[in-house]
Amino acid sequence: MKILGIESTCDETGVAVVANGTKVISNIVASSINLQKKYGGVVPEVAAREQIQLIIPTIDRALARVQINDIDAIAVSYGPGLIGSLLVGVETAKALAIAWDKPLIAVNHLVGHIYANWIKVDVGSGDKNEGKEGKSPNFPLIALVVSGGHTDLVLMKGSSDFQLLGSTLDDSAGEAFDKVARLLGLGYPGGPEIERLANTLNSDEVNKSIKLPRPMISSGDYSFSFSGLKTAVVNFVNSSQYDDGNRVEVASEFQRAVVDVLVSKTIKAAVEFDCHSIVIGGGVIANTLLRSQMADSSSRIGKRLFVPSKKLAVDNGAMIAAAAYYRNIKVNPLKLQADPSLHF
Ligand code: KG4
Ligand code: ZN
Repeated sequence: MKILGIESTCDETGVAVVANGTKVISNIVASSINLQKKYGGVVPEVAAREQIQLIIPTIDRALARVQINDIDAIAVSYGPGLIGSLLVGVETAKALAIAWDKPLIAVNHLVGHIYANWIKVDVGSGDKNEGKEGKSPNFPLIALVVSGGHTDLVLMKGSSDFQLLGSTLDDSAGEAFDKVARLLGLGYPGGPEIERLANTLNSDEVNKSIKLPRPMISSGDYSFSFSGLKTAVVNFVNSSQYDDGNRVEVASEFQRAVVDVLVSKTIKAAVEFDCHSIVIGGGVIANTLLRSQMADSSSRIGKRLFVPSKKLAVDNGAMIAAAAYYRNIKVNPLKLQADPSLHF
């Protein structure tokens, strides 16, 4: 079964064709990120206008080597996200479903980030999704979704059984990276910038003289909070202790603080609920320290970790098509509406 997946929740326009939820036949992602960099963040109106420009050419490219007759269904992420951006993908998918007479499947964007872990082969890029060894995640599992808008820890006992264990009470992890990057005079998006700066420090050079909090690490629940950590960075940057010489230390300690909290809560949940697998998704998991700490901690407790390739971790249409295959919630194209505040 081949599904055309459409993703337009924020500043990426992603269109892909995926066979049987596991094999990527094409996966095209166009992005307005370079335009957004000028503003130091995503401007919703700019993102929506770019989505309108990019959606049809991106669909054309994704279908370049696929017959429309071979497509069995059209999937679209209908939320959460920016309303202007969402509308472009949702209305396009509805129009195509009617014009081509194909079933329409609605996908929660966050569920898409989770199902990126079921993709095994990315034909276009030659990439193998990491950690799979031909296997798919097993239920029950713990899923951590960390992106610019979300920090969610979810228990899944089956393909349609989502139990939200905890979320951020304030900023998402990605937002914290973006805000702290700005404080340190780095560009947007902040995550890769902080990582690049932190990586200029060898591990034996980390002098640990700067100590930032690990918010809620011992709270006993699965909620997160990152705004206090950001405030701790603000206070340090405004103090007489801060100078150009220790900026890199701040970046490195901030990154370690976020990673410590994310890993600690994910591992705790995997143990408490006796899960078989741990899966992670969302833009923040492009972070190398997060990937390696999560891998070390998962193997220490004997759980299999699934991590999408970096290309499948950021917003893309393939994860939407994969989720649609496993979840298969057909909707009436005349009735589907974008839902900016959709959650688990
Ligand atoms: O999932 P995503 O591509 O878009 C949303 O749905 O939000 O996530 C974007 C977020 C941004 O906040 C960005 O700073 C963060 O992911 N990010 C990273 C890294 N790469 C992207 N955070 C930490 N380290 C990275 N290498
Ligand atoms: Zn996302």
